[in-house]
Amino acid sequence: PAPFILSPSLLSSDFGRLADELAALEGAGLRWVHLDVMDGLFVPNITFGPPIIAAMRRRSKLYFDTHLMIERPERYLAAFREAGSDLICVHAEATVHLERAVSEIRRLGAAPGVALNPATPLSQVEYLLPQLEMVLVMTVNPGFGGQSFIPFCLDKVKDLAAMRRERDLSFRIQVDGGVSPDNTAALVAAGADVLVSGSAFFGHPPYKERLDVFQAAAAT
Ligand code: DX5
Ligand code: ZN
Repeated sequence: PAPFILSPSLLSSDFGRLADELAALEGAGLRWVHLDVMDGLFVPNITFGPPIIAAMRRRSKLYFDTHLMIERPERYLAAFREAGSDLICVHAEATVHLERAVSEIRRLGAAPGVALNPATPLSQVEYLLPQLEMVLVMTVNPGFGGQSFIPFCLDKVKDLAAMRRERDLSFRIQVDGGVSPDNTAALVAAGADVLVSGSAFFGHPPYKERLDVFQAAAAT
């Protein structure tokens, strides 16, 4: 099976013990952590912002995979980079100047990604693909953990992987929402390289064993 990265979504962790959770992820052999930033406007929920990420940065060497579910993310790109984000992913639906936001993320020294809601077509991002390190295909409507995977999103991953092949590009494809060991094999086969998992990961400690379950699932 193709290798993939598991990026646990901290949204489903214990927010009262963030430093411990980060240490537990590192101890379990994880390399990435997915940080869900929500503003109560782009999505109906509110989570955390740059000060919390900066505090986590002081405790962790994990790769900070930052998913900005905020309106007009261009207002805060420098703040998230200064806080320690390694990858910054903005939603295509959240800004009218997507190319500018992507260029700005790169200029700040972070890896740029673009996220697409389930109903947003791949054409929204096609001209930007050469500039991106990652495309995040949302497989639920963003806002909350613990929702069910939307089946048609699997075809979207396949179509994006075909575009990547045809154009000989190398951006990563990330999937986020309702990801579990049950759909891991299908997602990896479709071309996903980075799997985000919140409830299906943090709900099943210990983390090292849960990582093994995902890896074994990919091999089936
Ligand atoms: C959804 C977030 C996800 C979420 C995934 O708005 O972007 O990262 O935490 O949670 P699960 O894996 O439980 O669907
Ligand atoms: Zn996310």
